[in-house]
Amino acid sequence: MIEIVDEAPAHTGARELLLDRAFGPDRHQKTSERLREGRLPALAFAAIDDDGALVGTLRLWHVAIEGAQSVLLLGPLAVEAACRSEGLGARLMRQALNRAAVAGYSAVILVGDAPYYIRFGFSAGLTTALDLPGPVDRARFLGLELKPDALSDARGMVLADGLFDPVLDQMMPMTGLQGYAKRAA
Ligand SMILES: CC(C)(COP(=O)(O)OP(=O)(O)OC[C@H]1O[C@@H](n2cnc3c(N)ncnc32)[C@H](O)[C@@H]1OP(=O)(O)O)[C@@H](O)C(=O)NCCC(=O)NCCS
Repeated sequence: MIEIVDEAPAHTGARELLLDRAFGPDRHQKTSERLREGRLPALAFAAIDDDGALVGTLRLWHVAIEGAQSVLLLGPLAVEAACRSEGLGARLMRQALNRAAVAGYSAVILVGDAPYYIRFGFSAGLTTALDLPGPVDRARFLGLELKPDALSDARGMVLADGLFDPVLDQMMPMTGLQGYAKRAA
């Protein structure tokens, strides 16, 4: 029995190790990471097995987009290799999308494998007028509207938004708020 819970600070270490295993050491180079680094997520979920081990993770992040309101960036999504193909990834996705809709968010965007995300209603056709702060394969840049036409006037560069992570700021000064200040100086 695997339970999906809101992520807690105690999950951080296991989550990062799972993401390293799932995506490899270069995962911080991804364009999506430019929109997440140093920020607190809007929503974060952890899948926990009977032994209390974290076997799945999914987080969503605030982004700002001209012509659209209350949009989230989804990802990364990862499930422990031993637990895959049992529907856990889909459970994480559905819980996240339901929570986002109930919370009033209007749309979700992501960069990921279209063959996986299409089953949840994501489409590359909704992001054609949007840009990301780095290289992206447009076939992997997907959107989902939680409210009708939420992305129909969305255009331009997707920007990072939301609160900075004060813990990360102290532990990793070049990626948190201090890092932004230093880089801007
Ligand atoms: C993608 C991932 C989260 C799916 O987790 P999961 O718990 O296995 O997902 P589900 O059980 O809901 O779905 C499994 C199905 O999705 C398919 N699937 C998995 N990854 C896929 C991908 N990248 N593209 C297309 N289909 C994929 C599986 O083949 C499986 O198909 P089946 O049901 O016909 O056997 C997991 O494979 C994972 O962590 N992968 C590594 C990290 C990753 O690639 N994350 C996001 C993708 S961009």
